[in-house]
Amino acid sequence: MADGPLVLAVDQGTSSTKALLVDAAGKVVARAVAPVTERQPRPGWVEQDADELWHSVRAAVTSCVEPAVAHRIEAVGLSTQRESLVLWDRRTGEPLGPLLSWQDQRTNDACRDLTASGSGPLVRSASGMPLDPMFSALKARWLLDIHDPERRRAKAGELCLGTVDSWLLSRFGGEHVTEVGNASRTQLLNIDTRQWDERLLDLFGVPAAVLPRVVGSGGDFPAVRDLWPVPDGVPVRAVLGDSHAAMFAHAGWRPGVVKATYGTGSSVMAVGDGGDSPQLCRSVAWDIDGPVHAVEGNIRATGRTLSWLAELFGTDVQTLLDEAPPASGPVQFVPAFGGLGAPWWDPDATAMLSGLTLGTRRGDLAAAALHAVAHQVDDVVTAVESTVGEVRLLLCDGGLTRSGRLMQTQADVGGRLVGRSAEQDLSCLGAADAAGLVAGLWTRADLEGRVRPVDEYHPATDRAVRAAQRARWHTAIDRARSAPA
Ligand code: G3P
Repeated sequence: MADGPLVLAVDQGTSSTKALLVDAAGKVVARAVAPVTERQPRPGWVEQDADELWHSVRAAVTSCVEPAVAHRIEAVGLSTQRESLVLWDRRTGEPLGPLLSWQDQRTNDACRDLTASGSGPLVRSASGMPLDPMFSALKARWLLDIHDPERRRAKAGELCLGTVDSWLLSRFGGEHVTEVGNASRTQLLNIDTRQWDERLLDLFGVPAAVLPRVVGSGGDFPAVRDLWPVPDGVPVRAVLGDSHAAMFAHAGWRPGVVKATYGTGSSVMAVGDGGDSPQLCRSVAWDIDGPVHAVEGNIRATGRTLSWLAELFGTDVQTLLDEAPPASGPVQFVPAFGGLGAPWWDPDATAMLSGLTLGTRRGDLAAAALHAVAHQVDDVVTAVESTVGEVRLLLCDGGLTRSGRLMQTQADVGGRLVGRSAEQDLSCLGAADAAGLVAGLWTRADLEGRVRPVDEYHPATDRAVRAAQRARWHTAIDRARSAPA
């Protein structure tokens, strides 16, 4: 490894924590990954262990950074899964119970009640997003109702609520802060003022004293400590939500860039104010040299759809995809395991298989799962088109994009060019890009000029075939929805 400054980037995600070391030319010189687990103690409940997430960060960093080069790290960048929430004791730093995952559905009933009480329009206009159990606000209420029903400890400042960025920053530096883009995904932040919104705090029963201080994405974060072999005191220069970080790595501040990140779920995002499309969310993409908003649609189960089916068949995702016949058949699979996210926003939708016959084989189900991923992403891209105009090129990143089969299916289903990033850990790379930018190691022009190769996938199905496939998919979606259109 040549001499010179290095940036360490960490991406704490739902299924693993990744670490990258990047040199001053933006080249990845070392990488490591540490797995994390999740639990489903009851149907619809999804939890993680907050301490395990912190230990996975330390494990990934220890494997990534050789002690001999640790002194060259000038900046740390952090990207994190969003919306997941943990409550901890301010004095001891100990979590009060598990972290509630963004996938958790235990607040479905509470969400339904709030919707019925007519709170939806206020929540949508203040936070930029629809009432939905995925966001942190209802999880905050649930955690406080269990651990502090009178809100006495919360009001006295004895408890801390935080998303994963906030939790890890408290572990790094002992401060209770959060990054503005992550904060905007809690549904407690006002999308325009970028401050906690009193009306939302009242509605969800969250005292302000339990929430972290909101900091810009390149802001005043605590420096790292206890992250061997990184010397104590190395500054955290940037923090971003994982989807936002991937957008940053695509130099997604340029007009017309639309990207899809394929993880456990998927996020389709474009920078822009987004008007008032009810199908999409508005959030803060980042605030580095001024706030930038994004429009986004989240899909709950893409990678999870394939891994679920692979687990069911006792195989792995690659083997599963290899079994799928080339053409899509009559089987439709709507993977609404925890309801449907964008563009349908139906937490009560039911996961459903249709079109089965006695001739249906494993490969047909694999093909249906593969197509379900692509159809879901294209539904959101179509919604994004209503705010940013026609999308001719969809930039794709995330672990699942390793599958060329999926990328070709995505191009075929949407009838648009797909550009797969050669770097799969794009959220991690985006955190490095942002941290190096804030640290003055490179400029935005440098980032725009960096050659980040993409593999191109051109649509190969004709318009009529595509229209028929899309119509079959939408019929299946209508069947899965709790209140069909
Ligand atoms: O919104 C949830 C998202 O941030 C989780 O991303 O990559 O951990 O599935 P991932």
